[in-house]
Amino acid sequence: MKNALQKKRVVIIVGTRPQIIKSAPVLKAFKSKSEYECSVINTGQHYDYEMNKQFFMELDLPDPEIDLEVGQGSANEQIFKIMSSLDSHLSKNRPDLAIVPGDTNSALSAGIACSKLGIKIAHLEAGCRSNNFRMSEEINRRVLDHISDILLCPTPLSLKNVLAERVLAGVAENVGDTMFDSLLACTDSLEENGATSRLNLKRHSFVFMTVHRAENVDVERNLAAILKGIESFGIPVVFPAHPRTRSRLDKFESKLPGNMILIQPLPYLDTLRLVSDSKFVVTDSGGLQKECYWLGKRSLILRDTTEWTEIVTAGASILTGCDETKIHKGYLDIDNLKPKPNEELELFGEGKAAQKVVKVIQNYLGDS
Ligand code: UD1
Repeated sequence: MKNALQKKRVVIIVGTRPQIIKSAPVLKAFKSKSEYECSVINTGQHYDYEMNKQFFMELDLPDPEIDLEVGQGSANEQIFKIMSSLDSHLSKNRPDLAIVPGDTNSALSAGIACSKLGIKIAHLEAGCRSNNFRMSEEINRRVLDHISDILLCPTPLSLKNVLAERVLAGVAENVGDTMFDSLLACTDSLEENGATSRLNLKRHSFVFMTVHRAENVDVERNLAAILKGIESFGIPVVFPAHPRTRSRLDKFESKLPGNMILIQPLPYLDTLRLVSDSKFVVTDSGGLQKECYWLGKRSLILRDTTEWTEIVTAGASILTGCDETKIHKGYLDIDNLKPKPNEELELFGEGKAAQKVVKVIQNYLGDS
């Protein structure tokens, strides 16, 4: 039993690049609350420096209270390792609540481990649905939404989704998107960032691309179709390759298009700067789709479905799948898109999601 002077303990469980980016503003918002102690657990699902530690440094996050170093392995191996390490750590260092962001294998394992230990769970970025059950993330996010106590939804649509599924959570609120907070927090530093000139690129005369989804890069035919599609653009395509994609390009001995500039995964600010200076973006990333939209960029989404249908409806993106012809057509059509901005549609909040997250948690834990 805690006495009134004891701080409440909240842990945020991350393990991949996008989870670290989503969590940074929440950690900062908790810092100003003296009645809380908020720390991070890093599962290490992403284990390369450029995909994990780099973001702790760049976003000025404290060292994790524990690094589970789960590393390489099949999805089931990773899930098993994370669950058993979390079981042992959290049963000795019990938090009042665990925040679990996103839809990764780390998020699923953290949710199940906490639920078995009777630890309250807040799912950050709840309610997103692509309705594509072949995506492992779709399963992860649905399971997590149904075992969480608090659902922190990023958009009105995501809140509608969880309410329609009759989730058991005691609280479900639209708080806005913490990735938007992260982006707004660095707009000044973005001005000074030199990524575009370092790569000798001219503003608005290149395409920025990321591809890493299993269905796109693990199937040789699909990866080849994407490469052919972007070759048809005829202008430089900057491609910071995810380690998974890099390994598939090597394995398939893929022929790289002459207009492709293949580079290492980038720091966060460099990425946003290149997106912002690009002509348009080609991606299958969940997070990057939103960042393009917030930065006023149009995008081709290399997927048949997206959990961010709001962006397609806002007229900012075209779904092309991994079809060479559709990618080329998307390139021809992209200038005709007339996106309605977030400020007008108020889809993702106004960049103050982290404060709302803290408020919802305070209310839930009885501290407001
Ligand atoms: C997705 C999955 C997630 C999975 C992860 C693997 C969804 C909804 N989620 O997240 O389950 O674990 O992929 O990576 O599909 N960025 C950089 N440098 C780069 C490229 C991107 O900083 O070189 C930043 C982007 O600005 C963005 C974030 O990384 O903030 C996006 O991360 P990404 O790896 O693309 O993950 P998601 O697709 O968002």
